Amino acid sequence: EIRNQKAYLALQREMGLFALRESKIMPNWAVVILAGGRGQRMQSSLPKVLHQVCGKPMICHVRDSVREVLDVVPIVVVPQDSAAVRECLQDEVVFAVQSDPLGTGHAVMQAEILIPEEVSNVLVMYGDTPLVRWQSLQRLMDQHIFSGSACTLLTTRLVSPYSMGRILRSENDQITKIIEERDADEEQKAIDEVNGGMYCFEREWMSSALRNLSMSASGEYYLTDLVEMTSKAGKKVSNVESAEKMEILGVNDRFQLNVAEATVRERVLKHWMLTGVTIIDPATTYIDTDVVIGKDTTIYPNTILSGSTVVGERCRLGPNSMIYDSKTGDDCKVTASMLEGATVGSSVEIGPFSHLRAGTTLEQDVHVGNFVEVKNSRLKQGTKMGHFGYVGDAVLGRDVNVGAGTVTCNFDGIDKHTTVVGDGVFLGCDTMLVAPVEIGNGSITGAGAVVNRDIPPKNKAIGMPARFMPLETK
Ligand code: UD1
Ligand code: CA
Repeated sequence: EIRNQKAYLALQREMGLFALRESKIMPNWAVVILAGGRGQRMQSSLPKVLHQVCGKPMICHVRDSVREVLDVVPIVVVPQDSAAVRECLQDEVVFAVQSDPLGTGHAVMQAEILIPEEVSNVLVMYGDTPLVRWQSLQRLMDQHIFSGSACTLLTTRLVSPYSMGRILRSENDQITKIIEERDADEEQKAIDEVNGGMYCFEREWMSSALRNLSMSASGEYYLTDLVEMTSKAGKKVSNVESAEKMEILGVNDRFQLNVAEATVRERVLKHWMLTGVTIIDPATTYIDTDVVIGKDTTIYPNTILSGSTVVGERCRLGPNSMIYDSKTGDDCKVTASMLEGATVGSSVEIGPFSHLRAGTTLEQDVHVGNFVEVKNSRLKQGTKMGHFGYVGDAVLGRDVNVGAGTVTCNFDGIDKHTTVVGDGVFLGCDTMLVAPVEIGNGSITGAGAVVNRDIPPKNKAIGMPARFMPLETK
């Protein structure tokens, strides 16, 4: 733990955050994100906070919202066996280990010892609330500072507040306590004002209250019990209502995960529609949060844009297209096709029914028609491959015409080999390019040629295996 604290301070120093403080409106914050606990209600071997919402793990949604308002390295509380969470967040955070899942209060205790001395306020978040927006966090922090509260909560009012902690208030409307659903009586359960699970604490008060926190009847240390302690100590507890009710949704099971997914999906689709993208059928269009789309692009039904995909302007995507971690230039068409880790220049047409796999680059004006698979290859400007075929581990020059049925035989059973095709080459239908092989600029292969040795520039090769024959000039 001490080693971690040192690492944390070193990281802050290295990133110049101490210097940055001067320029911040609210300088001295720490952020704690809880990702401990068992997450049993997910019924999953994957840690709860790593379940994805629109292609991004829940905890990364939380981290990204926090990042918008605070330039500090968050402390993330994880269980002992947390390799997957650690790998996902890597060096961007500091980890505190909670060996036993003894509740949210206990989790914050593990983080508290890593908070640098000078910090005077702490923003505590749960890793299972992916819908919170930075605007609400900003308002929460503003309220905390300007009201001089020791504890400030993000709350909302829900018609069916099932499973949420309820906010209890005194006769003069001051917040006095949070009662967990499982400990609440019928009258308390009827309260519609709920705890969103995002808190600002005055740091010194939080530390001393945590030291005095006692175990609840359920055997856990509830973070929420700090609210009653604050109120009883005569300190101020205040709250801010989230702008949207949905923002405070905590995902405990896969039903709630789907509610989160639907909410983020709608937000993302709306964002792109308001940014100049036409989406013909939002009900069957799936766009991950980190995707970028240029204006005047039109997306047809049944289309998925996923991962780190970036699409240019005026493109026509779909129907029935799946684009994963790929980039396209402007004016592209992708019809009923799949792109995975591909890079495509402008004015490229793909499909219907083609598949670009990892490491594929199609330069400007390339045309890939039906039933074409391309893997780890570059097709240079203006090259056309209109009909079924496979190109793997190859470079095809400019303006190559790839006849129907052409295949790069790139695998000899043990190793993969490369194929190089020069500019302006005409590959006859059903050419088999037995790699490693190179075809010089301007050469031609006859239909059905099995090319198992290099063809120099401006030659014609036919047959099986292909032999040279005189090249007639037109
Ligand atoms: C919690 C709140 C509840 C609030 C709701 C909002 C408490 C006691 N209750 O309930 O008032 O309305 O969130 O979503 O805080 N965690 C740990 N270590 C643990 C237990 C949990 O790190 O020992 C982490 C979990 O990974 C999770 C977060 O804390 O991200 C919240 O825990 P969870 O069990 O989901 O609390 P809720 O029952 O949802
Ligand atoms: Ca929860």
